[in-house]
Amino acid sequence: MNLILFGAPGAGKGTQSELLIKRQNMTQISTGDLFRAAIKGQTALGKEAQGYMDKGQLVPDSVVIRMVEEVLAKGVKDIILDGFPRTVAQAEALEELLKKMNLSIGKAIFLEVPMQVLMDRLTGRRVCKNCGAVYHIVGKPTKKEGECDVCGSEVIQRNDDKEEVIGTRLKTYQEFTSPLKEYYKKAGKFIEVDGNRGTEEVYTEIEKIIK
Ligand code: AP5
Ligand code: ZN
Repeated sequence: MNLILFGAPGAGKGTQSELLIKRQNMTQISTGDLFRAAIKGQTALGKEAQGYMDKGQLVPDSVVIRMVEEVLAKGVKDIILDGFPRTVAQAEALEELLKKMNLSIGKAIFLEVPMQVLMDRLTGRRVCKNCGAVYHIVGKPTKKEGECDVCGSEVIQRNDDKEEVIGTRLKTYQEFTSPLKEYYKKAGKFIEVDGNRGTEEVYTEIEKIIK
């Protein structure tokens, strides 16, 4: 089944995607990760995206849609869309793209997490500079301080996890992404999951939905 996993910044989309990849053999398409890889590789796409990301704003729809189209063209299946679509225009473009490929979305799973919890998760998040593994200073600390458990590289704070940028990201989410709840309700694909629980509990519920 192809899934959309959506929710506010810090709702746990990346964390749940990682489990779905490992345990259900699904393929993640994370537009945020794709942009971060482009920034690391200093490509033209990365240079264009960075200014928006560092301010907590959305990258323009046309840029995002073109990038997703290229990934879908590779013929992926059992996809988890993480962080895309993020606007109604992106959702409409996705529908068109999938139709052309004879594919469809099974469910759009929305992870509900209260604002204060999101703030704590985002300000406390640390990521590995090299492999992208995700940690939290309280909830999921590295075994050795400042060092990734997976590859030993340095763990850092994402540029957009600074408190002043988080505010803009949450507002951007409210304005542009939150309306997708209605969009997928109308499409009969919306399912809300309480994301304010332990990672494994949230995962168990998602697993039930996809089976
Ligand atoms: P993106 O990378 O997609 O960021 P986001 O949506 O803000 O989501 P996050 O990665 O911050 O959070 P998450 O939900 O994955 O949470 P995580 O699992 O890491 O996008 C970044 C930027 O790229 C955007 O601002 C925009 O500029 C651009 N962009 C991307 N896609 C775009 C698009 N489609 N259109 C336009 N622009 C786009 O968890 C967070 C923390 O909480 C971690 O520390 C984790 O360990 C912890 N945690 C997770 N789950 C739990 C739990 N159950 N209990 C306790 N702690 C938990
Ligand atoms: Zn690492």
